[in-house]
This record gives sequence, C-alpha cells and structure tokens, in this order.
Amino acid sequence: MRIDILCLFPEMFASPLNQSIIKRAQEQGLVNIVIHDIRDYTHDKHHTVDDYPYGGGPGMVLKPEPIFEAAEAIKQQLGVSEMPIILLTPQGRLFSQSVAQELALHSHLMLICGHYEGLDERVCEHLATDEISIGDYVLSGGELAALVVVDAIVRLIPGVLGSQDSAGSDSHSNGLLEYPQYTRPQVYQGWSVPSVLLSGNHGEIAQWRRRQAILRTAKRRPDLLEKGNLCDEERKWMLENLLDPK
Ligand code: ADE
Repeated sequence: MRIDILCLFPEMFASPLNQSIIKRAQEQGLVNIVIHDIRDYTHDKHHTVDDYPYGGGPGMVLKPEPIFEAAEAIKQQLGVSEMPIILLTPQGRLFSQSVAQELALHSHLMLICGHYEGLDERVCEHLATDEISIGDYVLSGGELAALVVVDAIVRLIPGVLGSQDSAGSDSHSNGLLEYPQYTRPQVYQGWSVPSVLLSGNHGEIAQWRRRQAILRTAKRRPDLLEKGNLCDEERKWMLENLLDPK
C-alpha cells in the first residue's frame, strides 16, 4: 500500500512513523508512506499557503492552488487519474474501526491535512473524495488526525502484525471492547489472575473472554452492543450479571 500525505508541518510525522509497528511495516515494504510539504507547491517568494477569507472574518484560509497542484503531481507520479483523496477535517464522517477496514482495502491513499482556521471549500468540493474526522473536537491541524488514521490502517494490512489474530481480537474488531488480559506474576500485590485463565481449558477460557467482552461493552459502551451479535443465551447472561454487582 502507498499513502501520500499532504501537509504544512512534515516534521510532525518523523518520529511517529519511525517507531514500532509502522516503522517495521515500512521496512518490510508492506507500506510506503510519503510526506509532502504543501509549501513546496507554492510559486511566490514567501511560499504563501493561506490568505484572508472572502467576506471577512477572523483567521486565514488555506489557498486551493498549492493543494491541487500537489495532488496532481502525486497522481502523475503514480500514473493514476483517480485515487481516494481524504481530507482530515472535524466536519468529516466519523472515523471508526470499520472505516479503517474499508480504507485498508485500497492500494493507494492520499491524505490532506488542513490547518489554521480553514481550507478553501473548492478543495472539499472538487478534489477530496472523502472527508474524515477522528472525533468531535478540534485539533490545530489535520497532521495528528492523519497519524491516527494511518496507524489504524497500517496495522490492518496483511502481514503487518505478527499474527492476523492480534488484529482480530482487538477492541472494536468484533464490535465489542476487548476482554481483560493478564500476564505474570499470577499474584501481584495480593491481586490474583482469574483462575479460569490458568485452567488450560480452552473452551472455558474462550467463553469467559467472550462474556467479559460483553459485560465490559455493556457497562462502558452500551451503544456498541448492537454490533456484537449476541445470542439469546449471552443476552440473558449479560442482563443477570449487569444487575448483580459481583
Ligand atoms: N482537524 C482538526 N480537527 C480534526 C479532527 N477532529 N479530525 C480530523 N481532522 C481534524
């Protein structure tokens, strides 16, 4: 997969893309992430990327020309006339695990990070094919949002995680939050690991994990439960155990 990112602050990407799973995925050639500075596509002496808003008002607005030119240059370099072009903006559709799964299917993605107070609307209307928000809050720019989106996508590319199972058991991948995990020591400060996990009984462990995932989701994120595909028996067990504080 290749991901091209257009932004005003390319240095914000250096460290996050050079760590851990994303770093390894790039080294293994599973993803090629290329950062482009929008300023490189300006033609004036001062490398102007923004201007005053028509109609007045506070703040500056990102100009359309350098963004269109950068996108065009990238498409030409890739030899494609169309590709998904995603604008990171608090006005976009909400990012989620299922959006990450959808985006991970593409071989090329272009992400555009907005900045300052706004972006010329013609970029949204005539260049971007999708607009994504990572949550209902306003960041100073799209760079951190792009990093969130890239991280969530890259770990879904086949071969990136050690075993495909690790992505499959993540919170949200089956619609539920993840079950509690424990490692050694068996007793820490008097707190014991649940005995079922030491039983060696894989059927019981799987059932315990599924039930814990259900209970945790019901308590913390009841809005997600519909996506968890609970059977009647699981629903009954959940209701009994939600009422009982034990
Ligand atoms: N840019 C600023 N805030 C953002 C958000 N919440 N999501 C995506 N891009 C943004």
